[in-house]
Amino acid sequence: MTQQTSKKNPKKILVTSALPYANGSIHLGHLVEYIQTDIWVRFQKMQGHTVHYVCADDTHGTPIMLRAEKEGITPEALIANVHDEHSADFAEFLVEFDNYYSTNAPENKELSQSIYKKLKTAGKIATKTIEQFYDPVKNMFLPDRFIKGECPKCHAKDQYGDSCEVCGATYNPTELINAYSAVSGAAPVRKETEHYFFKLSECEDFLKEWTRSGTLQGEAANKMGEWFESGLNDWDISRDAPYFGFEIPDAPGKYFYVWLDAPIGYMASFKKLCADKGLDFDEYWNKDSNTELYHFIGKDILYFHALFWPATLEYSGYRTPTKIFAHGFLTVNGEKMSKSRGTFITARSYLDHIKNPEYLRYYYAAKLNSTMEDIDLNLEDFVARVNSDLVGKYINIASRTAGFINKRFGGKLKIPSTHPSAVQEIKNSASLIADCYLARDYGKALREIMRLTDLANADIAAAAPWITAKKEGEDASLQLDCSSAIEMFRLLTIYLKPVLPNLAAKIEAFLNVPELTWVSVDTPFETGHQINTYEHLITRIDPKLIEAMTEANKENLQATPTVAQTVAASSTALPEVEYISIDDFTKVDLRIAKIVNAEHVEGAEKLLKLLLDIGEDKPRQVFAGIKSAYDPATLVGRLTVMVANLAPRKMKFGMSEGMVLAASDECGGPFILSPDAGAQLGMRVK
Ligand code: 2FM
Ligand code: ZN
Repeated sequence: MTQQTSKKNPKKILVTSALPYANGSIHLGHLVEYIQTDIWVRFQKMQGHTVHYVCADDTHGTPIMLRAEKEGITPEALIANVHDEHSADFAEFLVEFDNYYSTNAPENKELSQSIYKKLKTAGKIATKTIEQFYDPVKNMFLPDRFIKGECPKCHAKDQYGDSCEVCGATYNPTELINAYSAVSGAAPVRKETEHYFFKLSECEDFLKEWTRSGTLQGEAANKMGEWFESGLNDWDISRDAPYFGFEIPDAPGKYFYVWLDAPIGYMASFKKLCADKGLDFDEYWNKDSNTELYHFIGKDILYFHALFWPATLEYSGYRTPTKIFAHGFLTVNGEKMSKSRGTFITARSYLDHIKNPEYLRYYYAAKLNSTMEDIDLNLEDFVARVNSDLVGKYINIASRTAGFINKRFGGKLKIPSTHPSAVQEIKNSASLIADCYLARDYGKALREIMRLTDLANADIAAAAPWITAKKEGEDASLQLDCSSAIEMFRLLTIYLKPVLPNLAAKIEAFLNVPELTWVSVDTPFETGHQINTYEHLITRIDPKLIEAMTEANKENLQATPTVAQTVAASSTALPEVEYISIDDFTKVDLRIAKIVNAEHVEGAEKLLKLLLDIGEDKPRQVFAGIKSAYDPATLVGRLTVMVANLAPRKMKFGMSEGMVLAASDECGGPFILSPDAGAQLGMRVK
């Protein structure tokens, strides 16, 4: 069935959501944005506009390169797997992209390189020699997140190079005490390298003007004001090999920093769509374009989208965004999503347990507005609200009335010449609800829709068709009352369709109508219209499913309990624990060992052969079951901890003269242990 459109002047709109990194699963936090955008896109499409919604996986950078290496696969294989996973998650949450692409695509390479060349011609690129941390074992420069050490403020160990998770301090990696590389464990050294910069400092006037044009929400514009006040720094857009990304033209060994090619990925994804669908790319990206461009993002990446991105577009000769819509973060039960509380929930885990994605779409919509405030998913409230609003109120309208039409009137509706006032009132709210959707105030839209739903239910309760049905000679009014209810249900379905597209499609089939769009509001049922048999449309959420979901997410993380935890959990008696004495412990000779060689063992599934130097005449040979987690080349040069006085054991592949210590449980590992920087091979561990 074809879609009716209404607009005399339909707009051409390109919409994007931020590109998720290709090294992790989509979780409920991500879904806030994709659901928010998808609702807006579906609403705009229902208005009759031409809308293209594109996105892609953000595939480049050091973390993805290292994760692939750790998994023993190429980055290309890793990102292909993740692309499949992300695409399936989005599709099942009914997030309907017109194209879901990858930043590691030929269109993106070509666009990134040509934009760079245009920026260079415009005099906006400079080079500068800078000093950076370098991992001498892994032979690579280290991003801040890959340098760890002791916090200079609170002295917490193992903190990242940019901020401390214990005391919240932010600092430069140079300030860390006993810094070490999170990749190899080696102490990083400082090394000079030439980097390429985008001269953002020269873009201030343009950006100030652009900000004034109403492109940003109030809070975002204020943030921009703060950034202007503290001064704009040139932006470092290059990274040295080894790096998974695109090489910079005429700069061998230099790659575009992932954040340079990521937003260009919006253009690349659209370019692919244009090739597939015969659309005109330039019409949407030319400087004088009459089309509209909207980016939905999280507030944490405002800096990239409100400063770097418009300046990049402006000085490479493209149009700039019409508006940038930033949203807040998700909390669950009032707190940051937490693995230990079981509230760090992936899209897949939600689907496995709760199944129906529209419950979450509805709940998020009810919580969303146009600000950058955080939104809370309160799991108890989630169950209560979905069950009460969707099942108890909305679906109830059809489930209480459709049966009479089906059974008593052969499915035929009877419509009066003048609609009752409740139907009128519901119809009259169409433009208010449309305004709310347009302004991304979905919470307000749903409050209005639920007010109208209450009104419909009150009208049905007053007509009480279940009583009329028992009376002789009242068939005409029974048919009229139930038909009005079905008309109200139709109107409410139009209003809810951007949020609940699957349910709306089932209802279209039940009502026997073509695809509902916003103009369908003005085409009420006519007498004689035949509806189909009403079948159950939606079930209540069983709170037990929520419990099972959070439990399952907790279980994933449960490590073997420590003695202290076991004691705390047992109120009546000490558990039976086999303690060892301090003397027993000191019998174990633990030493800092340097891995001087590591190699695969032919025929061994799990083992690597290591040579460990603990300062003796010759290194010890140790077979360690860590093959699944490590590429042997990455181990060479690392310090670790070994049991030096374990009796030598004859193994199938040779003598093993000790043991390296590694952590693992059902959630992951093995992770071999590394001492803090400063430890020397041969030192005793006590
Ligand atoms: O913050 C992130 O998750 C980034 N991957 C978003 C990129 S959005 C765009 F610029 F590509
Ligand atoms: Zn600290």
